[in-house]
Amino acid sequence: MIQEFLRHLLTAAPEHIKKMGYLAESIAIDARQARCKAAWTPHLETTKDTIADECARLGSLDTINVYGAGGLYDVPLERLNLHAATVNLTDIVVLKRARKLTQGLDHLRLVEHDITEYAKPFYEFLTSSNSRLPDVPMHPDLSLGYKPDLAISLNLISQLAIPFYGSCEKYGKTCKPEKLHRLLATAHLNGLKALGCPVLIIADIERVYEENGQEIDREPALPPDLLDMPYKSWWWDIAPKGEANRTINIRHHVGAWRL
Ligand SMILES: C[S@@+](CC[C@H](N)C(=O)[O-])C[C@H]1O[C@@H](n2cnc3c(N)ncnc32)[C@H](O)[C@@H]1O
Repeated sequence: MIQEFLRHLLTAAPEHIKKMGYLAESIAIDARQARCKAAWTPHLETTKDTIADECARLGSLDTINVYGAGGLYDVPLERLNLHAATVNLTDIVVLKRARKLTQGLDHLRLVEHDITEYAKPFYEFLTSSNSRLPDVPMHPDLSLGYKPDLAISLNLISQLAIPFYGSCEKYGKTCKPEKLHRLLATAHLNGLKALGCPVLIIADIERVYEENGQEIDREPALPPDLLDMPYKSWWWDIAPKGEANRTINIRHHVGAWRL
């Protein structure tokens, strides 16, 4: 915890990225990944295989855009090298691990970019006396200046709204979490569809809470009716007992969709 706090303090990032919790969450993912390595590995490997299989299915590709690349734990970098001339690895926060892994590999471009185009205007709303929530940009430009042959939305669509409603209370503002969740997820889908290329979405479908081997709760991770049935799915033991809670295991049911 102290290490995470110091890292947050010493990492340079725009004010809204720090204050809305994006940087803290990226640092926390690094730490969680290290603590839960054994539990996370099957999910990370399945995600990499799913991406590599999709690239192989589509054949030779010039450009791949990845959204939510983060620490690149679930990105099959070596296999992407075989398939594409340019891979744009996008995340709102790019940390040292991703820079190190892509160092000297010119076809792997790290792009620090808010794919919702909403974080900055939202932070301005949070820190102003204005009580009117800015509108969510419903058609964000996800091209990153390219015309990709494959777009991959990597484990972020279910999480896009969290920093927004998460920071509202902190700043004494009111917003409707479910509405933001639906709007931001829908806007992301709009942006992906507008690219006019094959799209692979990997995302949580639902979260399941287990205690003593019994399911005790279950909640959907995506807004209702946002996506049809995934073409494949698997489980991610995201917080084995001892991680988020002493006695409860938290598992994510993860799916893959093609658009
Ligand atoms: C669950 S992580 C995905 C795992 C990631 N591929 C990895 O290996 O670390 C979700 C990622 O989405 C990113 N993210 C969240 N909101 C974003 C936004 N508005 N724009 C771009 N990236 C965002 C987070 O910073 C985080 O790295």
